[in-house]
Amino acid sequence: MILITGGAGYIGSHCAVNFIENAVDDILIFDNLSTGHIETIEKLREIDRNVKFIKGDLKNKDDIDSVFKNYKIDCVIHFAAFSIVSESMTNPSIYYKNNVLGTLNLLDSMVENKVLKIVFSSTAAVYGEPDYTPIDEDHSKSPENTYGKTKLIIENIMDDYDRAYNLKSIKLRYFNAFGADKEARFGEWHKVETHLCPNIIKAGIKGETFKIFGDDYNTKDKTAIRDYVDVESLAEAHRLAYLYLKEKNTSNVFNLGSQKGFSIYEILKAVNKVLAKEVKYEVYPKRQGDPEVLIADIKKANEILHWKNEFSVEDSIRKAFNWHKKQKL
Ligand SMILES: NC(=O)c1ccc[n+]([C@@H]2O[C@H](COP(=O)([O-])OP(=O)(O)OC[C@H]3O[C@@H](n4cnc5c(N)ncnc54)[C@H](O)[C@@H]3O)[C@@H](O)[C@H]2O)c1
Repeated sequence: MILITGGAGYIGSHCAVNFIENAVDDILIFDNLSTGHIETIEKLREIDRNVKFIKGDLKNKDDIDSVFKNYKIDCVIHFAAFSIVSESMTNPSIYYKNNVLGTLNLLDSMVENKVLKIVFSSTAAVYGEPDYTPIDEDHSKSPENTYGKTKLIIENIMDDYDRAYNLKSIKLRYFNAFGADKEARFGEWHKVETHLCPNIIKAGIKGETFKIFGDDYNTKDKTAIRDYVDVESLAEAHRLAYLYLKEKNTSNVFNLGSQKGFSIYEILKAVNKVLAKEVKYEVYPKRQGDPEVLIADIKKANEILHWKNEFSVEDSIRKAFNWHKKQKL
């Protein structure tokens, strides 16, 4: 059985669907529903009624201990975390407790119960301001926000746990996740939405004005350039990482992106095309610590996991739009 922490959330639920549809293994989702949704679990159970769900909090070691005591888990796919960059700067305490302490409880419980394989959701935020792009996995790590720092600390803990306890980990450093399930059953449903695409789409659907932060970057159209990766492709990367871990039993780290950069205006243009309307926007001053260009070098994931981002930006935006249309915004 595979344990998915944070499977009631955005990326975790898409990963669960991928595992179910590819008949990877039985699935147990562990989530405290702090940012995830019980409706997501109910939808997953419509696809496979054997999906197990345990409501628990990684901050309580007893909660996670009882999972390993009661179920035979072979591997953990670990999504559960807080991930709002601005909140991590104003309230670092909850980020260190939830992300670092929560993961430490999980890893200790794994070691105690001899579960020694984990796939971990890391982030491009571990790199900080890039020295060069595309950014490869060996690029220096200098996270500029507390969120990125928590993820880098966890990566380092995992390496120590490999050396000391033989716990093997695959760290997947995602760039900007976006898109939705092709059948519009699941999508990006964050109570506080800080991500670009859903915010442009929602503004478009509601006829509201979208905020662009900074139009004085040293880029082709003066807005920031980012690397966007489809959530269903991310889910597939987790399946491939799981199979790799099972076969090779070795730790590794991979960037997941598309190795293509899109400016904010380019994303806006693509959304306008899909929505067949002009989304209104206003430009605000750029935010501190927002780098000019962030593009992933995905050669390693490509060569070793045989993975690549399968969707065009327009495809991903169309899938996200189809999902958003179905929601009561
Ligand atoms: N969305 C992105 O673009 C992006 C980019 C890079 C990395 N990530 C990482 O991917 C992972 C998933 O991100 P997401 O966008 O799906 O977030 P999300 O908030 O939708 O999902 C996180 C899930 O974890 C659960 N959770 C949080 N803390 C928990 C705890 N202490 N115990 C049990 N459950 C807990 C939440 O209830 C939620 O269901 C996170 O680790 C995030 O840092 C996301």
